[in-house]
Amino acid sequence: MKILLLGSGGREHAFAWKLSQSPLCTELFIAPGNAGTRLHGTNVPIDPMDFEAVGRFVQERGIEMVIPGPEGPLVAGITDWFEQHAALRHVPVIGPTAEAARLEGSKAWAKNFMMENGIPTAASRVFTRETQEEGLTWLRKHRLPIVLKADGLAAGKGVVICQTHEEAEREFRDMLAGKFGEASARVVVEEFLEGIEFSVFVALDGKHWQILPVAKDYKRIGEGDAGPNTGGMGAVSPVPFADERMLEKVEEQIIRPTVAGLADEDIVYKGFLFLGLINVEGTPYVIEYNCRMGDPETEVVFPRLDTDLVALCHAIATGSLAGLEVKHDLYEAATVMLVSGGYPGAYEKGKLIEGLEEVSDCLVFHAGTRLDEEGRVRTNGGRVLAITALAETFPQALDLCYRNAEKIRFEGKYYRRDIGFDLMG
Ligand code: AMP
Ligand code: GLY
Repeated sequence: MKILLLGSGGREHAFAWKLSQSPLCTELFIAPGNAGTRLHGTNVPIDPMDFEAVGRFVQERGIEMVIPGPEGPLVAGITDWFEQHAALRHVPVIGPTAEAARLEGSKAWAKNFMMENGIPTAASRVFTRETQEEGLTWLRKHRLPIVLKADGLAAGKGVVICQTHEEAEREFRDMLAGKFGEASARVVVEEFLEGIEFSVFVALDGKHWQILPVAKDYKRIGEGDAGPNTGGMGAVSPVPFADERMLEKVEEQIIRPTVAGLADEDIVYKGFLFLGLINVEGTPYVIEYNCRMGDPETEVVFPRLDTDLVALCHAIATGSLAGLEVKHDLYEAATVMLVSGGYPGAYEKGKLIEGLEEVSDCLVFHAGTRLDEEGRVRTNGGRVLAITALAETFPQALDLCYRNAEKIRFEGKYYRRDIGFDLMG
């Protein structure tokens, strides 16, 4: 099968790595990819948001499956676009339609969906410019801290946790005034939940589902979970507290009603669904849905997935997930992100990366990297490389990650040295 993978981050490198191991994958293209994905296929300079260009490539090359990594193309409707195109309809796109992707694309829609279907989530209300005054009155009486969320996609920056009422009012006004453009024309105000977060990934074929390995990501830039949020600084899988009992609750209280609620609205969800959960005294609450895999979670989830990824994607597309066995590797996995100095604020790109050939006993997934004219690898983003290791225990896996993180050199390199330490008791 000829496959086109869309995206250019660490998640996409992990996809490319895993897809290329499948005997079912005859040819793999990545648009646009990075310096790592090219080790497993052919990078093609196509913007995943340019559906015409993607469609043309699929026709010219006889691509038989398209896998979007990030949410952008899904929320913008790439799956619908293919379905509506007579010459492309036969090519499955592994991801939900725009309607189904509203679970991520509109937090207001997702909150309403959860409330209607009795899915545990923080209590919330939605306000617009028209209801701003009502919203301000609501805020002034709201218990602290107050969580404000831009409704639409805001590159992971649309959530602000306010510690004072003044801050909440200011932020609320700024959001409605367009701080995140149209994405914050509607603002969700919700209660703050206290607990540990974890990520559950589900493959859905419209009717059936399979749960993939569970992961926990480390979102803050600083050690001890300090400082601003990032795309993710590291991840571990499995998650010790997400035991069988917890996963049963996730399945019964979240996955089952999510699938049933979508079916009630005649929405068919095919693809990967990422449940961002928080464990509140033993009960899983939904913080957010995402219509794709996580990054950097994929960099620990796929190495632990003992199932052919092409077969899994094919089963998603054909509605045959019920008959597929999804096995989880017993090893424990950790990944540590090496990032550019200054990230998540302003940072420089183009730094030479050295030492890649010295790494051993780990997987290096490229995130923001590119090849220069001389074929050398350079930094090309905030998150640069994810160093993943598998071992019998977390301490062993983390030791491998950190030993290899040392060997890789580029100007401004930074990484958290406390990934997974909270779980080692
Ligand atoms: P999101 O973009 O929705 O994942 O939110 C970003 C981060 O904000 C989450 O990973 C949580 O750490 C935090 N967060 C969001 N909503 C809540 C909430 N209701 N209570 C506590 N923390 C939250
Ligand atoms: N690591 C969080 C995300 O992918 O959204």
